[in-house]
Amino acid sequence: MSAEICLKRRTAPEIAAAKGGAPLVALTAYSALTARLVDPHADIILVGDSVAMVEHGLETTLGATLEMMILHGASAVRGSSRALVTVDLPFGSYEASPQTAFASAARVMAETGCSAVKLEGGRRMAPTIAFLAARGIPVMAHVGLTPQAVMALGGFRSQGHDEAAFSSIAADAAAVEEAGAFAVVLEGVVEPLAVAITARCKVPTIGIGASSACDGQILVLEDMLGFNERVPRFVRKFGALGEAADRAVADYAGAVRSRAFPGPEHVYRRKP
Ligand code: KIV
Repeated sequence: MSAEICLKRRTAPEIAAAKGGAPLVALTAYSALTARLVDPHADIILVGDSVAMVEHGLETTLGATLEMMILHGASAVRGSSRALVTVDLPFGSYEASPQTAFASAARVMAETGCSAVKLEGGRRMAPTIAFLAARGIPVMAHVGLTPQAVMALGGFRSQGHDEAAFSSIAADAAAVEEAGAFAVVLEGVVEPLAVAITARCKVPTIGIGASSACDGQILVLEDMLGFNERVPRFVRKFGALGEAADRAVADYAGAVRSRAFPGPEHVYRRKP
């Protein structure tokens, strides 16, 4: 009889307890294919609403829908077995009331099989985070540069430069932690603010364009693989897959046009 290997996923309480330990690795994945790539290496897979921009070609994340997040979330869950899969609640699906947020989050969890949801906003969303957490929904919070508020923020700009913004974002992080978030994404904030929040917050901070002092880091997979030419300044490209893919597609086109493909090894002969 073969021994069955049952790999258990990371859980939200485990992630929360990882505060101050080894840095947490988080990456986005929107499909089974990319989740399979990320899963062996990551603690958290985020099915981010950045999918609207990366995969659907939209200018902002505002066009992401619940249906889009559910389709991609279910696919990422199918492609992974170890990492905690967290799915973003899209713009318009949770802000109106805690009850609306619960209905959206419950649908996302039931229809994708994910283990947690993420939502954007600090103090204003704290009552909603408490409402979800009390009803068994693990919530990852997201403060600082919150892309769903891009129109109100006036663009994708780093946050926390003046004293008022610095203390306002610090208060946001404290409020979402107090409300029961199991981790807090800190996006696009000045480094001293990320350092200060990380020192004070009892749950892990996951930085993106923040600081290496955060308890973990997250990047959009396609950005760090080098698929996207234009990326935010804080992105380090760990690969050059865009160029490699372009070369492969050009080689294929050349082979087709010169009738070098399919070659004899790629065609089926009639059986004698
Ligand atoms: O949507 C997303 O991918 C995100 C991360 C970049 C934090 O929210």
